[in-house]
Amino acid sequence: MTVAGVSSEASAHVASLKPPHFVLEDIVRPNILSLQPYRCARDDYQDGILLDANENSLGHALPAGSSIPHQDRVDHTATPINGAGPSDALNLHRYPDPSLYGIKSRLASMRNLPGEDHVFLGVGSDEILDLIQRIVAAPGKDAIAICPPTYGMYSVCAAVNDVAVVKVPLRVEDGDFSLQVDQLIETLREHPNVKIVFLCSPGNPTGTLLSLRDVRRILDEPSYKGLVVVDEAYIDFAEEEIRMGVRGKEPVSAVELVKEYKNLLVTQTLSKAYGLAGIRLGIAYSQPALIQLMNNTKAPYNISVPTAHLSSLALSDAGLKKMRENVRTLISSRNWLVENLATIPGTGDILGGNDANFVLVQILDAPKTSGGKPDNARAGMLYKRMAEERALVVRNRSSDLGCLGCLRITVGTEEENERCIELMRQLLVKGEWS
Ligand SMILES: Cc1ncc(COP(=O)(O)O)c(C=O)c1O
Repeated sequence: MTVAGVSSEASAHVASLKPPHFVLEDIVRPNILSLQPYRCARDDYQDGILLDANENSLGHALPAGSSIPHQDRVDHTATPINGAGPSDALNLHRYPDPSLYGIKSRLASMRNLPGEDHVFLGVGSDEILDLIQRIVAAPGKDAIAICPPTYGMYSVCAAVNDVAVVKVPLRVEDGDFSLQVDQLIETLREHPNVKIVFLCSPGNPTGTLLSLRDVRRILDEPSYKGLVVVDEAYIDFAEEEIRMGVRGKEPVSAVELVKEYKNLLVTQTLSKAYGLAGIRLGIAYSQPALIQLMNNTKAPYNISVPTAHLSSLALSDAGLKKMRENVRTLISSRNWLVENLATIPGTGDILGGNDANFVLVQILDAPKTSGGKPDNARAGMLYKRMAEERALVVRNRSSDLGCLGCLRITVGTEEENERCIELMRQLLVKGEWS
C-alpha cells in the first residue's frame, strides 16, 4: 500500500535512498497507513468569496487599536510591531493558508533539501515527538528506545500512547555523553518491537553533540527496521560555531543525512536560537512519504496564522542575521559562564560538550580544595535557595543518570549570568556550607 498524497516523483526519489532494509509501509500502523486525511475546500481553492469554512465573515473581534506586543525579552517595555496593531493584514478571521507564507520551502532551501515535501511543521517539536510515536508505535505492543540522560518528553509521549520505553544509556563516564552504539544495536536486536530510536543532539541535559558517524551506524544497521529520530532543538548553536571558525568544518546536523536515508527524521525548533518559544514552531525533516503521513495525521491547521507570520519574519534574511548575532552573544556568554563557574570553590566539573545554550555543572559537598565530591543534597539545597531566597531559577538535574550533583544553567543575559555566578559564590563559599 502506498501513502495517500505522495507524488510519483517523490516516491521515485525515496526508492533511491538508503538503507535497503527499511520499508516505511512495514512500520507504520495500518490504521494510519490507510487514513483518509481530513480535506477541506481550502486545500483546493484559497481565493474568492470564501464561504466554505464557517469562519466569521465580519472579521476578528479584537478591540480597535490593539497591537501585537513585541518584546525582545520579558523585562523590556512592550512596543508594537507596527503602530496600527492587528488590522486584518493577517486575515485572522480566516483559517491559515496552506502555504503558511512559504515557510516550508524556505526551510527546505536553507537545509538544501529537494523541496517542501521534505518538511513538516508542528506546534513546537514536542507535537512532532508525539505525532511520530502515534504514527508508528502501536499502543500496548510496540516500544521506543531512548539514551538517558535525555529529554523527558520522549518517555512522557510514550506513556500517553501506551508505548514501552527501552533504555540504553549514553556513555556517562567523565561527562562524555556519547552513544554506546554496540550496546544500542544489541538491545535493538533483543527488542524487535522498538519502532523508534530517539537521539538528542546536542543532548538535553548533556549539552553534547552526537557523532554523525554513530548516527549513521544505527541508520545502516540491517537488523533494525525502525526509524531514527534525531532531536536537534539546540543545533543552531553548534552550527554557528562552524561559521565562527571555532569548531572545524565537519557538518554537525543530521539533516545532511535526510538526503541519503529514508529511515531518518530530524526535528528542530524556533524555540531556542530563534528566541521564539512562545509561538510554538517545531520543524521535522524527512523523506516525503513520512512527511505526508504526518500531514495526514495531524490536526487540521495546526500552525496558527500569527505563528506562521512571525516564523516567516524570523526566517527572512534579516531575521536569520539577528538570530546569528544573538547566538554568538549567547556562545560568548556561555564561555564566560563556564570560566567563572570553575572559579567557585564549591563547584566541580562542567559536564558535557557545552554545545548548546546551557551549562551542566556539578555541585560539591565540600570545596574542591578539600576533595569535595558531587552531591545531590547540596545541589538540591542550592537550587532551592537560589529560587526561593533570591528568585533565580535554574534546573536541578542531579537525579538524571550520569549527572550526580548537577545543576543545569541556561545562559542568560550578561547581567543575569553575573548575578547567577555572584549568587552561587555567595551561597557555596561565604560561610554557607552547613
Ligand atoms: C531536546 C529538546 N527537544 C525538544 C524540546 C521542545 O521544543 P519545542 O519548544 O520546539 O517544543 C526541548 C525543549 O526544551 C528540548 O530541550
